This record gives sequence, structure tokens and C-alpha cells, in this order.
Amino acid sequence: MLENSKWIGTSKDYGTVCPVFCRDFNTVKPIEEAVLLITTVGCYEAYINDNRIGNFVLAPGWTSYESRHQVQEYNVTDMITENNKLRIYVGDGWQLGGMSYYRRSVYSAKQPMLIMELRITYRDGSVDFIVSDEMFRSARTGILMSNIYDGVIYDARIEDYDYEQVKIIDYPKTMLIPQEGEEIHEIERIKPVRCIKSKTNYDILDFGQELTGYVEFECSAPSGSVVELVHGEILDRNEDVYTENLRSAKQRIVYISDGKKRVYKPQFTFMGFRYVRVQNWNGSVCPDDFTAIVIHSDMRRTGTFECGNDKVNKLYENIVWGQRGNYVDVPTDCPQRDERLGWTGDAQVFAASAAYNYDVNKFFKKWLRDLFAEQFEDGGIAAVVPNVLYDEGKSSAAWGDAAVICPWTMYRFYNDKELLAECYDGMCRWIEHIRAQGDNEYLWNTGFHFGDWLAMDNGQGERFGATGTDYIATAYYAYSTSLLINTGRVLGKDTAVYETLYKNIVKAFKEEYIKDGEPVYKTQTAYALAIMFELADDINLLGDRLDDLVYENGTKLNTGFVGTPLLLRALTKTGHTQTAYSLLLQEDFPSWLYSVNMGATTIWEHWDGINEKGETWDAEMNSFNHYAYGAVCQWLFETVAGICIDDTAPGFENVILSPKPDKRLLRAQAEFETAYGTIISKWEYTDKGLEYDFVVPNRARLILSGEEKELVKGAYHFVYPY
Ligand code: BGC
Repeated sequence: MLENSKWIGTSKDYGTVCPVFCRDFNTVKPIEEAVLLITTVGCYEAYINDNRIGNFVLAPGWTSYESRHQVQEYNVTDMITENNKLRIYVGDGWQLGGMSYYRRSVYSAKQPMLIMELRITYRDGSVDFIVSDEMFRSARTGILMSNIYDGVIYDARIEDYDYEQVKIIDYPKTMLIPQEGEEIHEIERIKPVRCIKSKTNYDILDFGQELTGYVEFECSAPSGSVVELVHGEILDRNEDVYTENLRSAKQRIVYISDGKKRVYKPQFTFMGFRYVRVQNWNGSVCPDDFTAIVIHSDMRRTGTFECGNDKVNKLYENIVWGQRGNYVDVPTDCPQRDERLGWTGDAQVFAASAAYNYDVNKFFKKWLRDLFAEQFEDGGIAAVVPNVLYDEGKSSAAWGDAAVICPWTMYRFYNDKELLAECYDGMCRWIEHIRAQGDNEYLWNTGFHFGDWLAMDNGQGERFGATGTDYIATAYYAYSTSLLINTGRVLGKDTAVYETLYKNIVKAFKEEYIKDGEPVYKTQTAYALAIMFELADDINLLGDRLDDLVYENGTKLNTGFVGTPLLLRALTKTGHTQTAYSLLLQEDFPSWLYSVNMGATTIWEHWDGINEKGETWDAEMNSFNHYAYGAVCQWLFETVAGICIDDTAPGFENVILSPKPDKRLLRAQAEFETAYGTIISKWEYTDKGLEYDFVVPNRARLILSGEEKELVKGAYHFVYPY
């Protein structure tokens, strides 16, 4: 791609200051079409004659830049006049900004660079190319600093730029690829719901919702005055913005006024926040001058859930906000502290839930290509993708398994066989990687694993749960191997080797970790895993025991990142749906609704992110927007609403409808848009009985009160006594 264009950079080092690259050009004949191909090292905003080209925020997005660097294509026909000025601003973005808590840039490119081609086709058939080359000029801008984690320092006084020659840079083009992912867009604008004075005497804006994005504001202040906005997720005891949990990320906007009244909007950064401290504002702070702009990957909303319990509805809303806040080109863990990384474990446990809310096929396809592009030589999978941590935490079970689980999830939801085919080799290599670990090829009992991360069953304040990491690793080894076999079958591969491997893993697992028919670890997570992955002879016995474990624990969960997504599903699978509902409806700590009662507007990283005394967990690791526990969303759709995938007819060609109502919810309704049309599943306890309504867009197998019916396209109504 871009064979005739050159990578250009600034000839001098501008330090943290964002450069602008500029080129003037004229057109002399009527234009048929003008198409711009462009990408940068760093993130860019491009303009023709002061009009923004496209609306991709943080273009070119985040990929494994060394091997895959996206190029965007824009049709700019309508933007071109006779005399034109092309300008491209470049901020550090993910590639130059130094990602992760190490704050180091791991990429080979070390300065902002631009490559582009503008192809102008005239009505007379002739074509002109304007390409990045020595004809461009660059200048320092008023964006004195921009960084994903830290925010922006902008000096509005710097308006006239001193343009100078650019430098041609010898940087490869072989990794350039067309745009693959969903673009990040500005999706929603939110006004503050209130403005308060903190006890520290600051003006604090409350947007009423934790979101990912930035704040636009209208400012008129004397020239040289420095306005500062500090963003945070919660308030501290002084009703000031709590920033300790941001670690090194500053999430701060510094605006230096030029004395004019201006509307300012930050570039090349985003913040995870609900509250903003406004410092050094000229006059009194008027909430109307501020607007929060929500950004995320622009996925199509496909699913909604609603029920008769407001708190569960709020939980669902929080889950969706968690997804929105963290699907920012890459499925991230959180949007605020110095991580915002594509943690594979988080992505894996939430993938199905995400797919019930939005069409995430394209989003995952791009990310999975990065995941496999960065697969280690030995088949291992990094803990974060794009991998900015190098080998650290390499290949943890349940994290690396994203390599198998995510492609399989995309296949189930979208019937995406092409993606499966593309991923198959990498999936095999992941399984072979596990097989090569330790002395026993059927157990994974070596190496570092995150385990049941942040579970509550090992004492409060402990990061690693009580379930043995070897138990979890081997369980996932078996599960991923079973999915690999499924994949192989879909693709018509010979899966005999993996079938034998699978049998041996299961056998070894049972010998090692199942004693007297039950898991050796007496944790909710151990039982949920063995049930969901079918790793014991009598799954129902385990279900009964899991049910006991929940009641023995005061009808409360104590699971972490691994156990939580499986817990309610395991209870339902073994006939304990009532207990699953009790956990869903539990309001005492730890529970989903505890955070709702504590005012959460997204999903917390820790069950005890804020404890009953109002104290926060260790600031070192306490995000209030971490979607992992939002994986309960899958159970809301599959069990409460009963919209399930039929693996023999993926992509919802056939839908299994099997809602399992509970009177405590009174009613529930979910809608889900598929390639065949919208599925609706609804139930309500009324005077007439338990009423069900379904809309089937194609085919369905209805399973209600133990009876099964095949349904064709149409709307259905049933009433059952209760
Ligand atoms: C991240 C997680 C991640 C974990 C690894 C954390 O710092 O925020 O969500 O999965 O590390 O266990």
C-alpha cells in the first residue's frame, strides 16, 4: 500500500509538542472524485480547508503496529475547492505515548510520522496524486503535550505556526493494511447533572455517569490564564475528585487561554470519569459551559434487556456502559488508570455478553488478528494484546485461552467460519503450547497464572483466589481443547489427535482434581468450572454441592474473574436457577446489586471497590469501570430471557428459546437483532398466569416447562398457570 508515498516526520525534535503537517495544493479542473489514503505513527486528525476529514477519533486505532498498521480511506470529493490546504495534526497516541504501567514505548517508531496519498480524478479522466513527500511542511502546534493517559496541555495563544521542512523517514510500509476495525467515534454528548463545591473548595462537575471520553468546554479567560480539568471516577471524603486509583495516569486537561472566547475540545486522549474538578476558571463555573463527549468503537447495538426489578435494570445499564467505556478499539480492562490494555482474560470472559449487547464481530476480528500476529514462537499468548508488556505474565490460563474462546464465540454468534478458519492454526498452536508445559502433557500445573483473579474466597484484600491455579489451568486446557475440536469439525479438519488429547486431559483432570466425585478445591469457582466444562462424572451432584456452598456462604458469591462468569450458568445448568436468581438479587456485599446500591454507574473491578464503611480498596488497583463481572449479562439473556444459541445452527439461524422465569423479577424482556431479524422474548406474571410472548425471525426451538416445540417465523403468545 501507498507505494509512491513516503513516510515523513519533522526535521527537528518537537519533544512532546504535537506537529502539524501541511501541504497546499490547487485544482484547476472539475473533479470527479478525490480519495485520501492516510495513516500516521501516533494518532491523527486531518483537515482540508479547516474541515475535519472523517470522524474517526484516535485514528488509526491501536493494532500490533509492527506487523499490522491500519490505513484509513476517506472520500473527500466534496471537501476540495480550487485552493486547498491539507493539514494533519499528530499526537502521541498509543504508539508513541508509552503504554502500560511501565510507561515505555515498545514500538520501533520513535517520532510522529505521516504517510498518505490523495488521488484526485478529474472529470476529463486525468488523475493527480498528492503524496506525502518533501513538499510537505511541518510546524509545532499549540498542543504542547498529548498523551492517552495524561491528557493534553493546550496553549490557545499559539495560532500562527512556523512551518519548516519535513524529513523523509526510512520506515517500513510492509505492515500497512486497510482499516479493519470499527472506527472510534464520538457517540453521545452528556451535560453535567450538577456542580458542587468540594470541602477543599473546588468546583466539581458531576456528569451522573461514568464514561469514557473527554469534556468540551466554552471558555473565556484573560490571555495566559491556565484552566485545569482533572477527571476521576468517584468523589473522595472531601467530595473532591478521587485520583489515587489512576496511578501514574494524570487524566488532566490544561488549557491556556488566549483571551478569546473559545469552545475547546481535547484531542488524542481519553479519560475514564464521572467527575471533573475545574480549577482556575474565570468567574463562577456554569455547568452549561461543559459537555462530556462519550467515545467508543462505533458498534451497532443489537440487544436490550429489561425486567421488573429496577436494580437489575440498573445493573444491566451499568454493564452496557462498562462495555461502551472499554471497547475503545481494543477490548480493554479499564479506561482510567495507566493500563487501558487489551487484557485477554477480561476480553474472553465478557465476549459473549458483549455480543448480546452489540455487534462485535468486526471489533473482535481485528483484535484477534493482532492476538495471533503477536502469538509467541512457542504458541503462547500474551496477557495483553496488543502486547506492550512483552513476556511478563505470558500465557496465563484463562487469559491466553482467549485465543480459542473468542473466535469460537464469534462463530456461535455470527456464524463467522472465515474467522475460525483464519484462527485455526493459532488455536492449535495455543493448545500445543499448553501441552508442552511441564512433565505431564495432560495437566497444566506449571508456570504463572492469574487464577481466579480477585476472588473473595481467599480473604479480603487478596488478589489470587483460593482455587488452585493448576486446577483452573487444566480445566481451561480441557475446555479450549474441546472448542478446538468443535472448530476443527466445523472446518472439516481431522480432529482425531485432539479428541484423544481431550479424553486424556479430562481423565488426568479427574484423577488429579476430583476426589470422591467432587473437586478437591471446595470453592464456588472450582465447582462452577467442573460443571460448565463437564469435568466430573456427576455434574448434578456438583450442582447440588455448589448450591450448598452458596447457601453456606449466606447466599452470596465469593468468586473472581474466572468463577463469576460461570457461576449462575453452572447453577442453572444443574437445575438451581432459583439460587442463581437469589445471587442476582442479593444486595448485601459482595454482590452485583451491592455496587448498584452504592451508586455505581459501571461495573467495578472489585466486589469491595468501596466497602460498607465507604472506604476504597487499595488505590493501586481499584477501577470502577472493569467489565469482567458484567459477564453475568450472558446469563440474563440466556436464562432470564432464554435467548440461546443453537450450536448446530449458529448465528441464530435457529434460536433456542428457553426462558426460566422467577416471580421475584415479575417480568423480563429481551430483544436481540440477528442476521435473520429481531428475536423478542418476553414473560410476565399477570392475573391470567405466566404469560410469554415471542417473536421468531427465522426458526426456534421453544423449551418451556420441560416441553419442546419447533417454531417457525412468527409471533407467539402462551399462558401457563403458576
Ligand atoms: C487488569 C486486569 C487483568 C489483570 C491480570 C489487572 O491489572 O486490570 O483486568 O486481567 O491485571 O490479572
